[in-house]
Amino acid sequence: MTSAPRAPDRYVVAGNPVAHSRSPAIHQRFAAQTDQALHYERLLCPLEAFEPTLRAFVASGGAGCNVTVPFKFDAFALAARRTPRAELAQAANTLRFDADSEGGWLADNTDGQGLMRDIMVNAGVPLRGQRVLLLGAGGASAGVLGPLIEAGPGEVIVANRTRAKAEALVERHLAWATQHGVNLQVRDFDTVGERFDVFINSTAASLGGQAVPVAASVLRPGSLALDLMYGPAARPFLHWAQSHGAVARDGLGMLVEQAAESFLLWRGVRPDTAPVLAALRAEVDQSAQDAH
Ligand code: ATR
Repeated sequence: MTSAPRAPDRYVVAGNPVAHSRSPAIHQRFAAQTDQALHYERLLCPLEAFEPTLRAFVASGGAGCNVTVPFKFDAFALAARRTPRAELAQAANTLRFDADSEGGWLADNTDGQGLMRDIMVNAGVPLRGQRVLLLGAGGASAGVLGPLIEAGPGEVIVANRTRAKAEALVERHLAWATQHGVNLQVRDFDTVGERFDVFINSTAASLGGQAVPVAASVLRPGSLALDLMYGPAARPFLHWAQSHGAVARDGLGMLVEQAAESFLLWRGVRPDTAPVLAALRAEVDQSAQDAH
């Protein structure tokens, strides 16, 4: 007797909006590369119905999901178990729907680890002992700070338009920073300091077409200046950074690397990110050309 072939495991990226997400293209490439049978789609969740939409997906056989704006905090709250890095972030970009007998839904946050790999492996910039400026204290920044501290820089300055949010974020990470020997501080935009080795912009300022909200003296020649945005939204930041002598980088590498971390959590296999990043880069460049 032959049994029916097992249907491929199903994954989604859940968000609102989600139509722009490149995650399906990334995960389908990972699946082909590693010979994994899976389906990956977008799941638009109504703003007031994240949980029921997700539960319906799980009931229909969903194995896991990525979570994007604005549901990363809801995803964290819904999970029965959380990885330490998700706990530090208080937000999740990845869920694995384990059976209740296995402990229930597991929440992880792969954003920070993705960014660290992009900086240290793809861009080849070591972080140990370096001075780092992290601008922003929203969901993106919260995902990044824990793994950033773990990479062992000498100093991390966090600055945010609303200072209280930066203070709360830093407060939550102080013990972690002490444990890793990192000098972690909050400053205001006009007193952040100068000549950082690495500048990470996690604010939504680029998205709103607004100027970088700190002076160019935060850079030195050869600093790495990285905006978590990519595509047209990142362009003014990249131009600003280059024109002040920095090495400019957008968030495409982080996007692919955080996806690889999620894939590893779900499938137990780490895909090779380099060819996927190269293909995605070509697609993004092509859409920018088409838009002209
Ligand atoms: P995300 O998940 O992308 O981090 P978010 O949680 O809404 O989104 O956070 C947006 C971040 O961008 C915040 O740090 C926000 O600053 P506030 O906390 O003061 O709101 C920051 N931000 C948005 N627009 C900005 C601007 N024009 N200048 C400076 N910071 C800005």
